[in-house]
Amino acid sequence: MQSLLKFITCGSVDDGKSTLIGHMLYDAKLIFADQERALELDSRVGSTGGEIDYSLLLDGLMAEREQGITIDVAYRYFTTEKRSFIVADTPGHEEYTRNMAVGASFADLAVILVDVTKGVLLQTKRHTRICALMGIKSVVYAVNKMDLVDYEETTFREIEAGIRQMAAEYDFHSQFVIPVSATAGDNVTQRSEKMLWYHDKTLLEYLETVDVAVGEEDGFFYMPVQRVCRPDRTFRGFQGEIAGGEISVGQEIETLPSREKAKVKSLHVLNQSVEKAGKGRPVTVELDREVDVSRGCVLHSEGDIHLGKLFSCRLLWMDDQKLVAGKNYLLKVGTRLVPATLMNIKYKIDVNEGTHIKSERIYKNEIAVCDIACSEQIAFGEFKKNKILGGFILIDRVTHMTSACGVIRHPLRRDENVVWHEMDINRQLRGQHMNQTPKTIWLTGLSGSGKSTIVNELEKLLFAQGRYTMVLDGDNIRMGLNRDLGFREQDRIENIRRVAEVAKLMNDAGLLTLVSFISPFRRDRERAKNIVGEDHYIEIYISTPLEECEKRDVKGLYKKAREGKIPNFSGISSPYEPPADPDIVLDTTGKSLEESVTSIMEQLEKYL
Ligand code: ADX
Repeated sequence: MQSLLKFITCGSVDDGKSTLIGHMLYDAKLIFADQERALELDSRVGSTGGEIDYSLLLDGLMAEREQGITIDVAYRYFTTEKRSFIVADTPGHEEYTRNMAVGASFADLAVILVDVTKGVLLQTKRHTRICALMGIKSVVYAVNKMDLVDYEETTFREIEAGIRQMAAEYDFHSQFVIPVSATAGDNVTQRSEKMLWYHDKTLLEYLETVDVAVGEEDGFFYMPVQRVCRPDRTFRGFQGEIAGGEISVGQEIETLPSREKAKVKSLHVLNQSVEKAGKGRPVTVELDREVDVSRGCVLHSEGDIHLGKLFSCRLLWMDDQKLVAGKNYLLKVGTRLVPATLMNIKYKIDVNEGTHIKSERIYKNEIAVCDIACSEQIAFGEFKKNKILGGFILIDRVTHMTSACGVIRHPLRRDENVVWHEMDINRQLRGQHMNQTPKTIWLTGLSGSGKSTIVNELEKLLFAQGRYTMVLDGDNIRMGLNRDLGFREQDRIENIRRVAEVAKLMNDAGLLTLVSFISPFRRDRERAKNIVGEDHYIEIYISTPLEECEKRDVKGLYKKAREGKIPNFSGISSPYEPPADPDIVLDTTGKSLEESVTSIMEQLEKYL
């Protein structure tokens, strides 16, 4: 089977990028643009009746198309007798970083254009850096417009030396510098008559023969599961594309994250039973025993695949909203999608100079090194060894837009050395002992909306019913456990995270926990719900309007906030995001305390 090379071209409009690609597509009749063939070569599971599955273009980062972002990357397909190609052409305008990174994450190789009349520019350095950051290991520098310098060898050699010096900083597996003229066609597909001093391959020859798999750890078998197929009761097959190595009937494999061993009972490729299948093949794998595997799991044999929740990564921020640590996203690695939290930003990387800059915020198009914590164990790889399980995207939980794409650097040790102990006396037993189901009753609303007063009365009623309870109140917790936190966004995120963790512990202790925090951000409450566990979380929105809270101004804080004496005051100088779908809503305006509490108690009954 012909191999497929996915590459990206980098350069600005004037560099002659399109001319270069156009030339390759057009030149000589042996090359023909054939989108479908290229796709066929890379088609994956899910293709019905031999039809081509175009979703491969949506793979990984390309998933963003599904989520509604249009990325300015144009794909072209062509095939020669030796190889098939997919080229991602990324325009060089202001969104360059993002478009290039998206293109680069898809590609195995980059062709970076250098204008011979200008030499190595800041832009050349930037392109090289972004490609390296996004994991490209093979780079071709096409020194273009040789016709404008009369095909002079010395000019080319000087530039070549500069390029080699610059590229030495990165660990590219291969770099190739070639003098071309895109307009005249010299050294593009045909050797130039005008540069007899050049003896190496033409650009196309190079692209047809370069081995881009060097250094990739694909000797072992692994396959992210895309689908579990159950046509009838007797058959259960796991479908996916083999990401590395080979698999054969009878071979033992391990499932991740469940870590079960099983043997391959049968293998199917396009409805045909086969003995063996290798990398790039879409297969259905039947195992000899029941295993705990669903979409997003990984089958492998002796691979260097990590199982964990924490890793360090390098990411490209693509969201209009800035990135702050502590936020929760959906993370997609391979075929797995899990909630994950961006724990901390280590530094950002200057794309021009490569310097590390300490920063608490990352803006659109910036590249940063961060730590990420997943809510569950996932199977992942280190990007430098494993492109499939080492790359990821972060998806915004509310807008479903791709906020970032990134690569995994390494797992975090902490993760490996900390092991969860299942205790025999657990939440359920403690709850039974107290004759109740532990729950977290989370009250959110503006300062002065009545949360603390209501919580106090609610607890008395629950106590009187013989229940075991505990109250966690914003002001009180901020005087102890959260004394080190203020009201900036990242502090509030941490404030809510800690309180959710404490509420969960209280639930583990068997208690009904009443939480009364402004908790102004929807995402933080979402995260609290995840921490506590959806089944144990009841959300009550005390919806007393701002005007009413301000009129009451029990603590005199609104007055101070209006005078500008309290920064980031919720409702005044910092937003309050009302819950979209709370379990219970109550506006205390015009209601007595008794009325408010009775109303809540009545509605609460069915949850307890
Ligand atoms: S939260 O926003 O982080 O959930 P929390 O409920 O812990 O807030 O604390 C809110 C209490 O802190 C308010 O009731 C008020 O007494 C006090 N406070 C002091 N400064 C602020 C501020 N900038 N915004 C809101 N509350 C503040």
